[in-house]
Parts: sequence; C-alpha cells; structure tokens
Amino acid sequence: MSNSIRLGIAGARFGEKHAAAFSKIDGVELTGIADLDEEKRTSLFNTYGFKRQFESYQSLIESESLDAIVICLPSNLHERAISTSFDADIHVLCEKPPAANESEMSRIVSSAGFCGKTFMWARQQRFSPEIKTARELVAEGALGDVYRGEASWHWGWWPFANDNWRGSREEGGGALLDIGIHMIDSLWYVMGCPDPVEAMASSHSLFLKDHVPDPDFVAEDSVFGMVRFKNGASLNFSSMFFGHVEGPKSHWGAPTEQSIRLFGTKGSVDLVQGELTQAAKPEALVKSYASPTSEAEWFILQAQEFLDSIKESREPENNGKQGLTLMRVLDALAQSAKEKRAVPIKATRSLEDLFGGL
Ligand SMILES: NC(=O)c1ccc[n+]([C@@H]2O[C@H](COP(=O)([O-])OP(=O)(O)OC[C@H]3O[C@@H](n4cnc5c(N)ncnc54)[C@H](O)[C@@H]3O)[C@@H](O)[C@H]2O)c1
Repeated sequence: MSNSIRLGIAGARFGEKHAAAFSKIDGVELTGIADLDEEKRTSLFNTYGFKRQFESYQSLIESESLDAIVICLPSNLHERAISTSFDADIHVLCEKPPAANESEMSRIVSSAGFCGKTFMWARQQRFSPEIKTARELVAEGALGDVYRGEASWHWGWWPFANDNWRGSREEGGGALLDIGIHMIDSLWYVMGCPDPVEAMASSHSLFLKDHVPDPDFVAEDSVFGMVRFKNGASLNFSSMFFGHVEGPKSHWGAPTEQSIRLFGTKGSVDLVQGELTQAAKPEALVKSYASPTSEAEWFILQAQEFLDSIKESREPENNGKQGLTLMRVLDALAQSAKEKRAVPIKATRSLEDLFGGL
C-alpha cells in the first residue's frame, strides 16, 4: 500500500457525504468515483477532485488502483460489491444496511476474515455526541440499570420516485431495512450491544402499492416491533414511510418526526435532544449532556475510524460481528411480522468465542 490510502466511492448520491468527509482527511487520495448516472459522478469528480471516474462499480474495482472503497449503492447490491472488492484485495466501508439478511452478512464476515481485509459498515449517527456520549454514560452506570429503549421515525410522505428501490422488497427496500435499522441500532448501540433473545413485529403495506412498478414485490411501508435482550432490557420501535406527520424536513424534503429515548433506574436520556433527565420531587432535573455537532463532523469521525482500523489492523467500531447480530435481529423482526408470532433469536457465536482465539 502506498503512503496515501487510495480510495474509491461506488454510488454518487449518498456517496457525496463520504466524499466530503474523506476529502478533509490527510493521507487520502480520492482515486475513483463510480455511478451509472454520468451527471452525478461528474459532479462529484469535479467537486472533490477524484483522479478518475467510472460508469459501474465493477470497473472501479477492476481498475486495480484502490486500497479501500466506500459502497453507497442500492442495498441489494451491497454483498456483490463487497465480495468483488475483497477478491480485489480492497478494504470496505459499506453503507447501511450492512447486508440484506443474516446469511449475506455471514458470508461477508467470513470472506473479510479469509481475505484479511477490513470490513466496516456505516452508521454516521454512532459518531454523533448525542449517541457516543450516551453510550459512555450507560457504560459508566450514570443511568443505573438500563431496562427500556423507545424510538420512532415517521415520515410525512414518500419523497421518492415510483421506481425507487426503497419501495421494493426484492431490491432491499422497506421501512425496516431503510429506517427501522437506524432506530434499532441507535438504541442497541447505546445500551452496549446486549445479546438479543426474542423479537416481535407487525408491518403493513398500505400505501406503497400505489408507488411501485410491481405490487407483487412491494415492501412494507410501516413496521412496529419489540426486541427483548438476555439482560432483561427491551426496546420498541416504530418506523413509517407515510405517517401523515408534520415536522422538520429531511434532506429528501419530506416532513419527519423522530424520537429516541432510553430509560434506566437512575435517569433517562433523549438521544435526539442530547438531554439527561432525572426525576426527583419537586421537579425533574434536565441537563444537556452533549454539545451538538454537524452531520458532516460525524461522517469525518466515521471515515477516520475506518482508516485507523485499517492502519492499526484492528476491528473497527461498526464491525462485522455487530453487523451479524443486527441482521439476526432484523431477520427475526421480518419473520415475526410475516408469521404473526414472536420469534426467538439464537446467540451469535464466532470461532473466537468457542475456542478463545486459539
Ligand atoms: N446512513 C444513512 O443515513 C443513509 C442515508 C441514505 C442512504 N443510505 C444508504 O446508502 C445507499 C445508497 O442510497 P441512496 O439513497 O444514495 O440510493 P440512490 O438510489 O439515490 O443512489 C444509488 C446510486 O447508485 C448508482 N448505481 C446503481 N447501480 C450502480 C452500479 N452498478 N454501478 C455504479 N453505480 C450504480 C445509481 O445510479 C445511484 O446514483 C443505500 O444502501 C442506503 O441504505 C444511508
């Protein structure tokens, strides 16, 4: 590997957030940008000074010029793009969801280990002070025993074109994989990634069928669920693409409402506002525990973590083992919604767990 890390980005829509972040870090050469859409890739090529541009992610990877890649393709292309990258000896940072399901995730984790390449999945919110500091507060016991998480993310209306992959089950879309994952991961991560034991969910496709080319493959447009953990704690979440709500506009233009809260025996935290509340008579004590930073900062910290984990040959913060447990939870929720029953979740066991790294 040369002194600079030669980085490629596949997918120039959400890829722009990563290009902006990596362009601010010393020792990174923005080597190649790929997108089927010429206008999008040329825009990033010109703005961030990439050395070359490519039409497909395959031609970017085959160019033999990369040390690392950021995959920002539609979710059903993640596994293929990741395995092609590992075959070409390239480290991978992949957008959420890290995979479409647990079996894809297992193959990704095994091939990363087999090829000796770094695999990290992206969730920039984990690098926000509201989430990062809350995780530290939980770990040091400031909230007492944490027993409950609650999160919701509702969009007012569907802000995408009718052929957008998010509306199709076959293409990795749906409210669970697209937005539910954010709610579940924020709570689970701040709780310290406890072992999940059971999941229950219900989902609906009430609106999306009028917005997709093939209603036979329509994804769910809302999902509500509960996950129970081995330590006795539980989380609830609610995610909707068509919530008929008013609130701040997302970067796609739809109004949204979001709430993420964690409850412990000594206090509760609001992970959106960055506030810690301790209720004692005569009135509750509410204090801010985090100074907000911009989303652009979270992307830079995430990019730095990816690069540091490569240089230090260590597992990154958002690693494959966590991805495996997360996908197991999402699979169980999807199965529960389909079969209308609670679904048990088996423990994740790696060879290291079984044999102590021998
Ligand atoms: N972390 C977050 O908050 C967040 C937010 C939005 C999207 N995402 C994730 O980012 C990924 C991309 O989402 P998006 O909203 O940018 O989707 P998008 O559909 O808007 O953009 C995907 C881009 O990939 C390009 N593409 C498709 N096939 C290609 C190929 N074979 N070669 C090269 N380019 C190809 C398309 O032309 C398109 O520009 C998804 O996995 C999504 O879940 C994450």
